[in-house]
Amino acid sequence: MKTVTTITELRDALDGHRARGDRIGLVPTMGCLHAGHASLIERAGAECDVVVATIFVNPLQFAAGEDLVSYPRDLHGDAQTAAAAGATLLFAPSLDEMYPGGRDSVLTSVAVAELSSVMEGASRPTHFSGVCTVVAKLFNIVGPCRAFFGDKDFQQLAIITRMVSDLSFPVQVVGCEIVRESDGLAMSSRNVNLSDSERAAAPVLHRALRAGAAAVRAGETSADSIRRIMGEQVATQQLGTLDYVDVVDPDTLRPVEVAGPASRLFVAVEFERARLIDNLDAGAG
Ligand code: PAJ
Repeated sequence: MKTVTTITELRDALDGHRARGDRIGLVPTMGCLHAGHASLIERAGAECDVVVATIFVNPLQFAAGEDLVSYPRDLHGDAQTAAAAGATLLFAPSLDEMYPGGRDSVLTSVAVAELSSVMEGASRPTHFSGVCTVVAKLFNIVGPCRAFFGDKDFQQLAIITRMVSDLSFPVQVVGCEIVRESDGLAMSSRNVNLSDSERAAAPVLHRALRAGAAAVRAGETSADSIRRIMGEQVATQQLGTLDYVDVVDPDTLRPVEVAGPASRLFVAVEFERARLIDNLDAGAG
């Protein structure tokens, strides 16, 4: 695996592959790679000839007061993880390489309306336009046939899929399953910012989702009852504050009144130095 830090180096490295007709896969990340990221890189390797993993903590998707500064960084470890998972190229640009002149110099933004204003978007109104803008830029830099994103960030995946469709990006978006710790906690780079006691409490997100899915399986159709059941689960611990629980239509991401196995369940909990999110198919067994 080769690590490159400039757009020119990356394009030069990809030119030969493109000329040979190689399929290029892209796995965008913000680094501090874990087994969830590795699963995306492995999937890309199974479906493409060349895998570009990118590491860039994108300031456009962090609002003032969010965890941009404390976001964990580990480029050395990331290079090892990405290589072991089968990445061909690791693109780790500086802030200046991506946004010469800094974040405030970027005048263009890509926004996907409606899908971006609910759930995470309600709590973080500028977040998804920051995500879409950097992902659109990475698509233009890399020119992938396929790009791999995790169900872990289900709303992000839905928004990027919509952006690609609305703007006719020549890329296929591939959604990949959530990788969890053995106690159910969804792997996340932010988990390292949990205290020991918060880490012990954090599987409550997954427990809440499973309680919601169990209620759906048992025949509960009132989405409000399911929201209450999930909220009560989260309240069984005191360290994290519930931001939201929701039962939504997986396509529109709008809250539903009548829940069923096709609904999607979401939860977000704020710990002292880490905001955690998780989601589950309501039909999950
Ligand atoms: P990041 O949080 O680093 O996540 C990179 C990719 O890994 C995303 O597609 C995310 O959904 C996926 N991922 C994270 N944890 C996962 C898990 N436990 N199982 C499976 N996949 C998981 O998401 C971002 O970065 C950024 O917003 C980005 C798209 C890179 C734009 O800056």
